[in-house]
Amino acid sequence: MCGIVGYTGGRNIKEILIEGLKRLEYRGYDSAGMAFVENQEIRLFKKKGKVIGLESKILKETIVSRAGIAHTRWATHGEPTDINSHPHTDESKTIAVVHNGIIENYRELKKYLIDKGHVFVSETDTEVLPHLFEEFYQGDLREAVWKGLKLVEGAYGICVIHKDHPELIVGARKGSPLILGIGEKENFLVSDASAIVSYTRNVVFLEDGDMAVITPDSFKTYEMDNQNEIDKKIEEISWDIENIEKSGFDHFMLKEIYEQPATIRDSFRGRIILNENKVKLGGIQLAAAEIRDLERINFIACGTSWHASIFGKYLIENLVKTISTSEYASEFRYREPVVLKNDLFFTVSQSGETADTLAAIKLIHEKGGKVFGITNVVGSSIARATDGGVYTHAGIEVGVASTKAFTAQLTVILLISVLFARTKNTIREEEAKAIIDALVLLPETIEKYLKNINQIKDIAEKYKDSKHALYLGRGLNFPIALEGALKLKEISYIHAEGYPAAEMKHGPIALIDDNMPCFVIATKDSIYEKVISNIKEIKARKGKVIAIASEGDREIKELVDDLIFVPVSHLVVQPILNTIPLQLIAYYIASAKGLDVDKPRNLAKSVTVE
Ligand code: G6P
Repeated sequence: MCGIVGYTGGRNIKEILIEGLKRLEYRGYDSAGMAFVENQEIRLFKKKGKVIGLESKILKETIVSRAGIAHTRWATHGEPTDINSHPHTDESKTIAVVHNGIIENYRELKKYLIDKGHVFVSETDTEVLPHLFEEFYQGDLREAVWKGLKLVEGAYGICVIHKDHPELIVGARKGSPLILGIGEKENFLVSDASAIVSYTRNVVFLEDGDMAVITPDSFKTYEMDNQNEIDKKIEEISWDIENIEKSGFDHFMLKEIYEQPATIRDSFRGRIILNENKVKLGGIQLAAAEIRDLERINFIACGTSWHASIFGKYLIENLVKTISTSEYASEFRYREPVVLKNDLFFTVSQSGETADTLAAIKLIHEKGGKVFGITNVVGSSIARATDGGVYTHAGIEVGVASTKAFTAQLTVILLISVLFARTKNTIREEEAKAIIDALVLLPETIEKYLKNINQIKDIAEKYKDSKHALYLGRGLNFPIALEGALKLKEISYIHAEGYPAAEMKHGPIALIDDNMPCFVIATKDSIYEKVISNIKEIKARKGKVIAIASEGDREIKELVDDLIFVPVSHLVVQPILNTIPLQLIAYYIASAKGLDVDKPRNLAKSVTVE
């Protein structure tokens, strides 16, 4: 959710904060704001809407300041309005705060502060923070923040400035990410490293319960529990500015779709031993006997990553012959899940910051279970909270609708499945070889496929005014159908549902008429004939069928309204390939409708509140 940038140093602070907010805008874009310390005053600017609105508001302002904080918001408490935007201040504007997370006991705190004479102006939970810190302030901002936070329940990543401290920012984190960026005579506190990649690569990942104090010349970190100063490891982030530029594409989403040959290659690079037809994954430290003894392999995730989890469940049972489950993190964490001695959990997450997924990890640990992460963002909270795992290496994903991160997750899940299957001897070596060969060939196949997609643009044009759409697939292609439907609804606002093709008869079929496009994944596999029957059922009700079919399939041509051929691959690799046309359909429909593809309404890239 919300993006935070804090800067202290001598550069043009207005530009640094605006650029940082633009980089973070994918985290939330309901409203934006910033505050600076200048001449013993807090100068505050806020604007409902996207960062560009704030930018034009402050265009003509001259700001002479060495400490400022900024925020792009995804509303939780209170509508997106100028007043509810961050930063929030106390009534005398001595302290300003930006916050990512939710203060759960804000009602009690607000009452306590109102009783003490504080006056509130917004509907947000965050506004209690500056009032609370002001209440405890006696000349030392860090101490005031520390004392205030002791009363706070909930999740936060915050940055705080005070009018009497012209070069100081205090930060703290519990449950929401905060990263300290270390520069030359300048320092940063940000919720996501993409905000500072143009200035520094040296970062400290703050942990829950850490506080940080930065000035242009110093950075210090403290443990909130005991206020002891602690030394934290400085790490180097490896990606650079090109990763977060559109590089000539109209949208990040399209750029990221086109990056998939490279990102899939990156996700298996160095992990395959070709001459032995084996997989090695350094982050999965399990002895062969432990893998053989596993009774259940469980995947937990949210959103698109949950779709990758379903693929995982099907694939593990298919190749590893071990019971497998897939569950929403938000459900898992609030029921009474049974964790068996020989259970293994995988949490799947692009951002590595999803609040529900993090809470699920905590619960698994409380119940004595072992959990590995399949995570994209290196050093993220999930990567650090898990007992090991595999990075997907898809690079920074900026488009809110996940594309390359999804296919990288599928690739990693495939690698894990082959690793376990080879260890358990549940597939023959020739079978492993066939899968590995197909995977190694996949980037090239996708590259070629992406060179000629005019037909997809035509289909998008034809169906762009639909009000509803169905996405159907079976077996390993069922999660791909779910993902296709999610992509369409996320960015084009067309109501779309994904279903196992046969389940259509139990409800969705009632919706089918001659206005209903049905995207059916019908590539050749063991249940191809069944899918053909499902297509006939749709056609008998005058539905429009757009089939994703195996190149050269003549039979299907006669049955459907539109046909999208995809190259033929191995059965377990094919679903990765089948994902691509569905991403493109969603993209071209949304862009034909003139929508903001990269920042669809109400969504956020990283959901750090539950
Ligand atoms: C949000 C994003 C989705 C993502 C989901 C889970 O809803 O918009 O694209 O799939 O969160 O996020 P994660 O980072 O855990 O994969």
